[in-house]
Amino acid sequence: MKKILILNGPNLNLLGRREPSVYGNLTFEEFFDSLKNKYSDIDLHYFQSNIEGELIDKLHEVGFSFDGVILNAGAYTHTSIGIGDAIKGVDTPVIEVHISNVHAREEFRHTSYIAPNAKGVISGFGLQSYELALKSFL
Ligand code: DQA
Repeated sequence: MKKILILNGPNLNLLGRREPSVYGNLTFEEFFDSLKNKYSDIDLHYFQSNIEGELIDKLHEVGFSFDGVILNAGAYTHTSIGIGDAIKGVDTPVIEVHISNVHAREEFRHTSYIAPNAKGVISGFGLQSYELALKSFL
């Protein structure tokens, strides 16, 4: 059974309440439950933190045993050399995902410290971005 982690960064705990016109009305927990049901043949894990170092610790923890990580690093995408280096340092492939199309938004969202070290990037498909990333690991 494949082991996949969905790793969410800052402010993504507010999904469903945060800027619903950009990020939608569903909480991530609701979405994650439906994903787990749909893909019951995958050992799917979920972790969220607003703290950069905790995201790095998690990447170190799973990065030598899991088959894939689906990472929405939120605003850290655009700032964190540390998360970028952590991805480079582990074996597990990481896919960068975003709910919104970051390239259609403010200029500061066009930079990613994740993308150069990621297997690929999926951005702009709402919560479906996570499912598309998951399918790519199957
Ligand atoms: C986001 C896009 C980021 O620019 C932003 O800081 C987020 C969410 C997205 O999923 O669209 O927090 O990663």
